[in-house]
Amino acid sequence: MTLSTPNGGTLINRKDFSKDTSSIDTAIELDDVSVSDLELIANGAFSPLTGFLNKKEYDSVVDNMRLTDGSVWSIPITLPVDEDTASQLEAGKEARLVYQGTTYGVIQIEELFTPNKKYEAEKVYQTTDDEHPGVNKLYERPDQYAAGDITLVKEISHEQFNAYYLDPAETREAFAKKGWKTVVGFQTRNPVHRAHEYIQKTALETVDGLFLNPLVGATKAGDIPADVRMESYEVLLKDYYPEQRTFLAVFPAAMRYAGPREAVFHSMVRRNYGCTHFIVGRDHAGVGDYYGTYDAQKIFQEFTLEELGIKPLFFEHSFYCTKCENMASAKTCPHGKEDHVILSGTKVREMLKNGEKPPREFSRPEVIEVLIKGMQETVS
Ligand code: ADX
Repeated sequence: MTLSTPNGGTLINRKDFSKDTSSIDTAIELDDVSVSDLELIANGAFSPLTGFLNKKEYDSVVDNMRLTDGSVWSIPITLPVDEDTASQLEAGKEARLVYQGTTYGVIQIEELFTPNKKYEAEKVYQTTDDEHPGVNKLYERPDQYAAGDITLVKEISHEQFNAYYLDPAETREAFAKKGWKTVVGFQTRNPVHRAHEYIQKTALETVDGLFLNPLVGATKAGDIPADVRMESYEVLLKDYYPEQRTFLAVFPAAMRYAGPREAVFHSMVRRNYGCTHFIVGRDHAGVGDYYGTYDAQKIFQEFTLEELGIKPLFFEHSFYCTKCENMASAKTCPHGKEDHVILSGTKVREMLKNGEKPPREFSRPEVIEVLIKGMQETVS
């Protein structure tokens, strides 16, 4: 076995820092989501995408979770533009992609189209409820989509943890250098608590390396900020993970909270980063009660392993059991709920904000210390 092949067969690279954009008058202002999409298309994390989806590909992704060539792709990557901007765009012409006053990219406009957002919400998020943070974002963004291939003309600078931003070509190289042939990818938008650690290490028992790949793009209000989380990962890895078998890099995407669809999308991206395996636990990328606990696992039945090109590893809801005196799951523990240390994310965030420490069976004390400090700084 070797590292996975990229989705679509080739790792996309859409960077050209020598490209001159000075003669391109039209500009599209990017938001937090589209600037991260631009970065991830350009660096190959979204291979085989070479740009923002056209209508045909968009319909195919929304309806079939595949591009028209059959490649698995479950989340539409689109570039919403407002009416005023749309009126200046012309098929066949280029437009600059601008974020906070700086031109980072160019799009070769192929077409403009108006999506049926309710339909997109229903298919991708399984709900049209605007209380859902992903649906809310979808509705909030402008109503026309600009499609076309992109080029990144300037590296997007990151103020924080710059060293953890790696392109898929770089993570692949790092894995190969370590001699890893099998790598399990782990997605998270949370601190790593004992349950996360348990499923990561259980997976690591059977593969060569663990790729801890926290999402650091836009998340909803209430989620723990990325800088606080990064510090918590560092202290955890330092004391509790084998250095030679663990690799930390960030995933600069926006969180969609699309549950099952996003689990498939997350696995495709980790495939591009070189992973051969991908962890899907309870309610992956879920929010509120919109998805069943294991819906994000069941959705993988709609694909063959061959077309996925990465093996999903499914885990039951895990917890510390005071009778087993161990981490366990419903699959491995015979005891009742009263013996299980389970805290909801909301409860944990509330405790942290108040400076209260969740039990060490739930989270390592070193992690808690960083989180309490970070959350109190965020609040103050
Ligand atoms: S996610 O939104 O980024 O998926 P989170 O950081 O909560 O959220 O979870 C990261 C991964 O760990 C997901 O695959 C999720 O299903 C899994 N997971 C989180 N908590 C548990 C748990 N207690 N038991 C089993 N799997 C879990």
